[in-house]
Amino acid sequence: MAKNQVLQLLGGITPQQFLAEYWQKKPLLIKNAIPDFEGLLSPDELAGLACEDEVQSRIVEQINGTWHANHGPFNEQDFARLPEQPDPDHRWTLLVQSVNHFIPEASALLQQFNFIPHARLDDLMVSYAPDGGGVGPHFDSYDVFLLQGQGKRLWRISEQTDLSLIADAPLRILKNFDTAQEWLLSAGDMLYLPPHLAHWGIAVSDGGDDCMTYSIGFRAPKHKELASEFLAYMQDKLLQDDTALPGIYQDADLPLQTHAAEISTAMVSKVATTLNNIQWSEHDVADFLGSYLSDPKPDILFAANKKISLSQFNKKILQSGIVLDLKSQMLFSAQMFYLNGEALKLDGAQVELMQQLADERQLSAEALARRIDQALLEKLHVWYSAGYIQLMDDE
Ligand code: SIN
Ligand code: CO
Repeated sequence: MAKNQVLQLLGGITPQQFLAEYWQKKPLLIKNAIPDFEGLLSPDELAGLACEDEVQSRIVEQINGTWHANHGPFNEQDFARLPEQPDPDHRWTLLVQSVNHFIPEASALLQQFNFIPHARLDDLMVSYAPDGGGVGPHFDSYDVFLLQGQGKRLWRISEQTDLSLIADAPLRILKNFDTAQEWLLSAGDMLYLPPHLAHWGIAVSDGGDDCMTYSIGFRAPKHKELASEFLAYMQDKLLQDDTALPGIYQDADLPLQTHAAEISTAMVSKVATTLNNIQWSEHDVADFLGSYLSDPKPDILFAANKKISLSQFNKKILQSGIVLDLKSQMLFSAQMFYLNGEALKLDGAQVELMQQLADERQLSAEALARRIDQALLEKLHVWYSAGYIQLMDDE
């Protein structure tokens, strides 16, 4: 992305300044972050996505003060029963997750946030709400950029430390909310919020368009989640590696025990010594992160492409170039590349080529023609068959 476009997106500061002063630290309001931003899809198109089986969506309602949340897929009747005109006793909002998996423009929008590592990116959520609608006062555990599409939204933030939630509500709503600051955002304005900052977005129609907000959300795995996933990775690695932890428990020095049922301290310390020999290096950690962070969420399915021969594939990619499928996640660490949980080790010119694919999610025919070798061509062919990559023309 052009340098001045990033400056505009961040309200005149550089990505370095943003990271140093705001990221994970404090909110930043950016007026006119994306000039003339009109949104990427209409309310009807968003509702259409929420009717599809593979799309995660929610309708959140506040009826006479009580919160309700329902999960999609929805149908026409679900929408027909919602009030057509704004009703203060029945407010509602529709929220659709991972819109970037379905709309190329949404994936392109996320690319504008390339100053944050892909390993931290979660998804683009889009919400629609008539006047007064929203998900109520709450806090998130994640960093988020809230980009306003059509209509307006009043954002209130609070510096409160009281994060107690309403009991029995189907979503996390703060019991108390003390507004410290508020801003009215119009199309193209954006608000960055660090994790755990209490906020409350209220749709404002003002007689104009209903409100649509684009949330560029980042993920941060919990330490416990990282640890348990890493231990599962180590378990697999240990079972596959015949040379790891050789030997068998031995007790040629066994003394006569008073209690036959007792696990002796000698046995405990022998096993502790064996377990302390389980070792891992930063290379293992990097390999784990590559697989884990690029692994698709369980609800993501890839549609296999029609089988074509390797030579046909070669011809096609040298004509059109390739793009990552919208649902694909590609990361790398040194010479190791990870696409949707699958690892590939590369060297030489192939490393730079695949770095470009991972960073930009696409590779031109010219870049491929200059650098691709036979082994990588074969791998790309397999990934194409699996639906992980697509021909640029087919997008
Ligand atoms: C929204 O309703 O679009 C905003 C969601 C949020 O506050 O995180
Ligand atoms: Co939020």
